[in-house]
Amino acid sequence: MILVLIGSPNKLGNTYTVVNELLKDIDEEIIYYDAYKSKIKACIDCKYCSSTSGCSIKDEMQDIYQLIEKVDTLIIASPLHFATFTGELINLLSRFQTYYAGKYVRLVNNPTIKKGLLVVTAGGHWPKMFVGVKETFNVVKLLFNIDKTLELLIAKCDEVLPTSSSEFKNRKQEIQLFLGEK
Ligand SMILES: Cc1cc2nc3c(=O)[nH]c(=O)nc-3n(C[C@H](O)[C@H](O)[C@H](O)COP(=O)(O)O)c2cc1C
Repeated sequence: MILVLIGSPNKLGNTYTVVNELLKDIDEEIIYYDAYKSKIKACIDCKYCSSTSGCSIKDEMQDIYQLIEKVDTLIIASPLHFATFTGELINLLSRFQTYYAGKYVRLVNNPTIKKGLLVVTAGGHWPKMFVGVKETFNVVKLLFNIDKTLELLIAKCDEVLPTSSSEFKNRKQEIQLFLGEK
């Protein structure tokens, strides 16, 4: 099963277009969570998860916690906003704090996920522009012991449609093979 956590406010925008194109011919169960539709609250650092598994906030994140137990592949996809993930997606990701507490405070085994893919689209281009999203993705990798990962980071979407970019065209096949691997 592939779980896609997507943080674009634009259903017909750059990030959805890239993700849909990558997943078009993948023969797996695919579940999308749109951070802008789900309206998942940010972690409030209530310390509930320092002693108890799960989360004190009862919203749609509870469904994601259940899915995380079952997924083989996790895709995190977002436009770049102010050099990081979008606000609603960061809210959602902050709720993985329960797994951070599981690993480092409660000392339990978190669910493991086999494969991870990071997809980010950005309007502009400058050195180190993707440092922030890559670091956040590293934290997620650590929490679920994801050892096979790929990143598709597409800059200059203000100039060239992301699916017409050389980065997308050159990497599409590699990424589809990766997603289709058992
Ligand atoms: C609030 C906001 C902040 C943005 N910040 C950045 C940025 O820091 N760097 C950048 O290159 N593009 C930035 N952009 C442009 C988007 O990353 C780019 O247009 C993206 O491909 C949009 O994806 P979408 O169509 O899926 O929403 C920003 C756009 C918005 C609306």
